[in-house]
Amino acid sequence: MNNNRLSLVLIFICIVFSCSTPSTSLDSIVPNIVPVPMKQKMKEGQFSMSSKTRLNYNEDFKISARFLESYLTNGNQMKLNEGEGGNVISFEKDEQMENAEGYKLVVSSEEIKIIAPTDQGAFYAVQSLRQLLPVSFETGSYKGSEVGIKCMEIEDEPQFSYRGMHLDVGRHFFSTTFIKQYIDALAMLKMNTFHWHLTEDQGWRIEIKKYPRLNEIAAYRKETLVGHYNDQPHQFDGKRYGGFYTQEEIKDIVEYAYNRNVTIIPEIEMPGHSQAAIAAYPELGCTDEPIEVATKWGVFEEIYCTKEETFAFVEDVLDEVLTLFPSKYIHIGGDEAPKTRWKNCSDCQRRIKEEGLKDEHELQSYFISRVEKYLNGKGRQIIGWDEILEGGLAPNATVMSWRGTKGAVAAAKERHNVINTTTSHCYFDYYQSTNEGEPIAIGGFLPLEKVYGFNPIPEELNEDEQKYVLGAQGNVWTEYMSTEDNVEYMVYPRIMAMSEVVWSKDENKDYDDFVSRVEKFNERLDVLDVNYANHIYEVGGELHTEGVIQSFALKTVTKDKDIRYTTDGSDPNILSQIYKEPIAMTKSMVIKAAVFNAEKQLGGLFKQEFKYHKAVGKKLTLNVQPNKTYGGRGEKGLINGINGSNARFGDKEWLGFWGDDLEITIDLGEITEIKSIETRFHNANGQWVYAPKTMEILFDKDDGIPSVIILDSNELIVKAKLEKIAKSRYITLKVPSFGIIPEGSQGAGSKAWTFIDEIVVN
Ligand code: ACM
Ligand code: ZN
Repeated sequence: MNNNRLSLVLIFICIVFSCSTPSTSLDSIVPNIVPVPMKQKMKEGQFSMSSKTRLNYNEDFKISARFLESYLTNGNQMKLNEGEGGNVISFEKDEQMENAEGYKLVVSSEEIKIIAPTDQGAFYAVQSLRQLLPVSFETGSYKGSEVGIKCMEIEDEPQFSYRGMHLDVGRHFFSTTFIKQYIDALAMLKMNTFHWHLTEDQGWRIEIKKYPRLNEIAAYRKETLVGHYNDQPHQFDGKRYGGFYTQEEIKDIVEYAYNRNVTIIPEIEMPGHSQAAIAAYPELGCTDEPIEVATKWGVFEEIYCTKEETFAFVEDVLDEVLTLFPSKYIHIGGDEAPKTRWKNCSDCQRRIKEEGLKDEHELQSYFISRVEKYLNGKGRQIIGWDEILEGGLAPNATVMSWRGTKGAVAAAKERHNVINTTTSHCYFDYYQSTNEGEPIAIGGFLPLEKVYGFNPIPEELNEDEQKYVLGAQGNVWTEYMSTEDNVEYMVYPRIMAMSEVVWSKDENKDYDDFVSRVEKFNERLDVLDVNYANHIYEVGGELHTEGVIQSFALKTVTKDKDIRYTTDGSDPNILSQIYKEPIAMTKSMVIKAAVFNAEKQLGGLFKQEFKYHKAVGKKLTLNVQPNKTYGGRGEKGLINGINGSNARFGDKEWLGFWGDDLEITIDLGEITEIKSIETRFHNANGQWVYAPKTMEILFDKDDGIPSVIILDSNELIVKAKLEKIAKSRYITLKVPSFGIIPEGSQGAGSKAWTFIDEIVVN
């Protein structure tokens, strides 16, 4: 009552004294909703939710209304009014709204109105409303009997119809409780698809009643690789590992997801990544020989044979899958299927002949098309990884593009639907930071800002072709995520960035604003006990070069914080100097910095080492430009005194080339005495990155002794060093590409990448 009177008085004062329009200041306090809505407008006043508030909805909105009801009242002291009178939260259908998942949320002092064309749209209004409430509602621990919600109008709709997250439960297995939490996160972030990767070489995770050995044998491996695949020699933990979801558990999860507007697309991998199934039923393979469920990561040669018996198995398995998952799409994998076994198998060779196929790639296409036909006959559509383009695309398939966007472009041009999950922007198993101390990851580098900047529509597509891009998805491969905490660390906050990529309009996106909303959103994750990564508090560094003068700028994307730093090797603390301007780098030094608020350090330690040498800031030319995605700092990055990170070839200091023979020339400006030349190559074979086998160095004058360095090492980073006294103005490095990736390795048959680091001249 008093509040109402007060606002009446205020309105009166405003009218009488015609105060400046309140909307300017109100607009600056729009709520911190992730993903950011299309339109938000703040209004005067607030809605008071209490035991006097009624929920008014009909059957059209039963999912969203029931979700809201349980969210508001479960555990909380707040109760809703089950009788008459009081204020109201109402659901209203508007069939005129164009986007089926769109909504309006209108909060006035008398009513909260949710207007949508469908229950899905209303569900997203509820998710926005949820983010207007105190975070204690998340855990049902809100103690008040009333809560105020500021008056506003939100108008919102998604940019893409496919908004997904993937989770690999084959490499590591996660509890049903965790799967539900994962689905909760998707729902809260307005994502609508959970791609559940259920079968792998290292474990089969779905109960299939007709084939009990899938659960007795294929669901368990005898042990697991310890450390990184690139660490040699391989070591194992000696512990049996595994598990699977029963059909009852799966039904329960599918229902749970349905009530959160999330469709689950199951993935049953074929013909590759099937070693676990072949371990259980060796007759499914080409050799009939007993094999084990895989205990380490990678691509394996054991794939399904193309004989009739295998198709009978696949169809039986899919029959059970279809009874559990009502989704329009079934993902049938199709990636990374080495053809060695098929080349040497009489059944597969007979199949090639009988079907008039050209080679094993066409045999793969035969396999996928045959399974597609089976599923189409049951009213379902297939999705496959972009390898299904090789040897001819199955007629109705949707392509999940991951090896760059080439597959997305090719499929859209063939008028096939596409989901963009390109490794460079969507692989959440990549490192998020170049700082030391990160949990071990597969490799690569995909920081939050890069995810945020992702455009799922490849620029090569014209307007008509763009329509085939349904959306995008974050992929979470779990070779290096053995616990649920690990998964959360890799997923958050990148999932929030992905949610804006697929939901929000470009004109509403702003990275700095996003980061402030992430800071707020993290309070919600705190009460939910989510182990999110907090790299938003990391110091970012940027090298500035003017001629041969270099300086280093530090920055933080979070507001109202200080960067404190040192250059004497000590760790910064609350008393260290506050960063104000770029730090001149005229000699070798190490900068250490961190973000602080008034009380404490918030993020991890930033460390940048700078080693001065004779080529720093000089001129460097390349015969080919680095690949667009891994262009780093361009050629300057090779002679700026800064090494690339040891684990992350995707950071800016590494330059990546795809299959090119390189010729790199440094002009030292004058004849200079040289004692040594040194560089490094990344050799992350699992990610298709190979050090060259040799490197040659040329000087101004040929002294008759060739300077060829043989690089013969399996290390993750291969060093190449020439020690030779020479006088020269120009130094040329000739770096041949490794060539084609050999059979049996990840990316077999593709060109290898070359990643080169700083060229140190002393
Ligand atoms: C994949 O990452 N093998 C699809
Ligand atoms: Zn075969």
